[in-house]
Amino acid sequence: MPAICVIGAQWGDEGKGKLVDILGETADVIVRYQGGNNAGHTIVVDGKKYTFHALPSGVLRGVRSLIASEVVLDPRQLFDEVEKFKTDINLGIDPRTSIIMPWHNDLDNIGEESRKKSTGSAIGTTSRGIGPCYEDDKNRSGIRFYELVGDPKNLEGRIREVHDTKKRILEQVYNVKPSYDIDETVRSYLFLGGYLRDYLADVSQEVGNALKENKKVIFEGAQGTLLDIKFGNYPKVTSSHPMSGAVFDSVGIPPMKMRTVGIIKAYVTKVGSGPVVTCLDNGLWPVDESKSNFEGNYIRNKGGEKGTTTGRPRRVGWMDAVALKYTHRLNSFSDLALMKLDCLSGLDKIKMAVAYEHDGKVTDDYRSWDLKFLSECKPVYEEFDGFGDISSARRYRQLPKNARKYVSRIEELVKVPITVVSVGPGREETIYRNFKKL
Ligand code: IMP
Repeated sequence: MPAICVIGAQWGDEGKGKLVDILGETADVIVRYQGGNNAGHTIVVDGKKYTFHALPSGVLRGVRSLIASEVVLDPRQLFDEVEKFKTDINLGIDPRTSIIMPWHNDLDNIGEESRKKSTGSAIGTTSRGIGPCYEDDKNRSGIRFYELVGDPKNLEGRIREVHDTKKRILEQVYNVKPSYDIDETVRSYLFLGGYLRDYLADVSQEVGNALKENKKVIFEGAQGTLLDIKFGNYPKVTSSHPMSGAVFDSVGIPPMKMRTVGIIKAYVTKVGSGPVVTCLDNGLWPVDESKSNFEGNYIRNKGGEKGTTTGRPRRVGWMDAVALKYTHRLNSFSDLALMKLDCLSGLDKIKMAVAYEHDGKVTDDYRSWDLKFLSECKPVYEEFDGFGDISSARRYRQLPKNARKYVSRIEELVKVPITVVSVGPGREETIYRNFKKL
């Protein structure tokens, strides 16, 4: 099958970047299809760390890298990223992509403050203006990439026109002044439009043609399924669809059969608020490491679980097979890649939730929409004996028996084979089990 989709099966930060980079070796095209610079991928090559926010992970390999229409793009941040990689970048951006403007950042921050005031709990967004930009896109007032790189006069007019409305909202509804200077914004976006002009590409047509020619295409998701705007833990979610079905809408190709690889970490993490049934941090958000338990802090430190985008410590929890079965149902994973198994080594005991207990009843019904229900659920755990250092294992049979037991149990519960086990951040620190590239 020439098309493959890489999906976060938990709450994001599962390590999709590493897998896309591995698959990128044999790919012709890599397409990022949702989210924005709220995402962060870290890839380690020859000990050197590369961090991406908006660029598809394929740019490292010089593969044709595309940004599809349902991405929200911050040209200020993209500029920094492109400058870093300019020498061998092969980028195309769809004209229909909506652009993040400085008022989106202001409205994101204000929205969080008012949520906190009215409900006592903010979402914990990345402050990148993601939600407000999608809002404008859906109410048809967004500025699109086509306008950014088009006629400068038109762009200036559009920026000033939308700013007039946003300024009134900021000042008259929220009683705050815009944090940006409009003349400076116009100057900088005119510059960015010129800078990014050559990257304009009809992604829908290009990908459609590539698939017809039987080229190998990777669709790279950002975030994770449990952050999906509809099927995640609404409202503690992002504003796009990180699920496999969303690929077709965003890219502009008809639905087709594709292989869908689910990426899971050997435990779970979440940045931001919302229920995590297996949470090891007393459920607290923001994380207060002095109040977290031993295992939470151990895994967080070993896994370097701090946001790539925001630097915030992530909440950590044990593997949740109930949630994973749910995300498998939504995405239909053909195989799973298990990342960061090495970060569990050194623990005496490892746990995995195989069911929930609610009101005296045992269930494996993941009611994503009912946050009260989820926050009342208690995990029903299976316990596993721990294992030592596994970072030098390169074949599955080189893993200690206890590690293999843990891997097998996930496969048994979710009924999907685990074809990749990652035992370290480097490309070479990876175990393959009947894993097919493209
Ligand atoms: P937003 O996408 O910035 O609006 O944030 C909404 C929620 O999604 C917050 O809980 C964020 O922490 C979370 N989030 C957004 N992007 C990522 C990501 O790439 N990894 C993990 N969490 C994310």
